[in-house]
Amino acid sequence: MSERCIVLGVSGGIAAYKAVELARRLTREGYRVKTVMTEHATRLVAPLTFESVTGQEVSVSLWKEPGKPMHHISLAREAELILVAPATANLIAKMASGIADDLLSTTLLAAECPVMVAPAMNAAMFRHPATRHNLEVLKKRGVEVLGPASGPLACGEEGEGRMLEAEELLEAVKRRLAIRMDMAGVRVLVTAGGTREPLDAVRFLGNRSTGKMGFALAEAASRRGAEVVLVSGPTWLDPPPGVTFIPVETAREMMEAVLSEADKAEAVIKAAAVADFAPVRVREGKIKKERAELLLELERTPDILAELGGRKRPGQVLVGFAAETEELLENAREKMRRKNLDMVVANDVSAEGCGFASDDNRATLLFPDGTCEELPRMSKKRLAEEIMDRVVGMLGRRE
Ligand SMILES: Cc1cc2nc3c(=O)[nH]c(=O)nc-3n(C[C@H](O)[C@H](O)[C@H](O)COP(=O)(O)O)c2cc1C
Repeated sequence: MSERCIVLGVSGGIAAYKAVELARRLTREGYRVKTVMTEHATRLVAPLTFESVTGQEVSVSLWKEPGKPMHHISLAREAELILVAPATANLIAKMASGIADDLLSTTLLAAECPVMVAPAMNAAMFRHPATRHNLEVLKKRGVEVLGPASGPLACGEEGEGRMLEAEELLEAVKRRLAIRMDMAGVRVLVTAGGTREPLDAVRFLGNRSTGKMGFALAEAASRRGAEVVLVSGPTWLDPPPGVTFIPVETAREMMEAVLSEADKAEAVIKAAAVADFAPVRVREGKIKKERAELLLELERTPDILAELGGRKRPGQVLVGFAAETEELLENAREKMRRKNLDMVVANDVSAEGCGFASDDNRATLLFPDGTCEELPRMSKKRLAEEIMDRVVGMLGRRE
């Protein structure tokens, strides 16, 4: 079964019957189609109909999915795209106001993937200033509005409000997803997480990195068609589907894994927080607490990024991260120069709500020609897409 998951939202309009054909076509196209219906939609078409044509579970309730207490979050994360067809006037209004009172609207509020809606309603409902306004709000937020078309409506009237045909919606989905397949055939190496340097049999020196940024990068590259190798320090995150995952623990292990993979990659993105120092010797057993004080002797760990910069092959794109708490841009610029990087993502990890362990980040992108782009605070997933856009641009210029 395909890794590419589409969530098909079905709300309570007569055109729900046309969504069955759409679900069938999307499934035949190779997508894993997960249908989420509103309660009202289930009065018009039985969930079993969607289940039969997609071969996938159909979800309706926020509360009744056994073993899936946070189904709205897992659906939102899993989806490469969410298409709501038909989208009722009611659902559009809820989306515009951020209302999340059932599984479909809550999933939509949690979604960070592209969202498309296919409105379907009576012409007067579509003309209503409230609906017009709500659709404008959604468009401004980046939601793609497909149709509606003009023609005979289910209510017996003629006018604007007819849902686009399954064929047209399928084409729109394919077009939207194709835009993001711009890394097909590219091999990308991503590092993530923090390393752990053992002190004794039970303790280690570590850092606060959770791996979220690196995992988001690996996921973004993989979604865009790249062949991705993800080398990561210990984290509780699940590797994104379709990615080759190499777990490591220490800076030295990370260095070995990275150097054995780097030559094969067109782009190397080093988001890992690698320890700069490690204990000179690892004590056997557990250090006893009876001693009054303990002096640790530390030594520099290998500088993986500098090593990569030194052996960078022509055309290869090398991206580093600079997590700093002071003199952010100067330090980042210096790092870029010293390590022969093509871009540095500089983030102030002391900024509130950003940096380590957070879902958000606020970064400045620096380039060797002296230019820099200051990005607003955004989710790490969104930032990963922004970074990949730049990487794709740099790879394209080198062809
Ligand atoms: C038979 C029938 C057909 C309906 N068709 C539509 C429709 O095409 N578009 C629409 O916006 N509302 C339509 N409605 C009204 C919606 O079902 C109603 O606004 C409902 O609250 C929508 O809930 P939902 O958005 O959670 O599915 C219809 C209602 C009925 C009874």
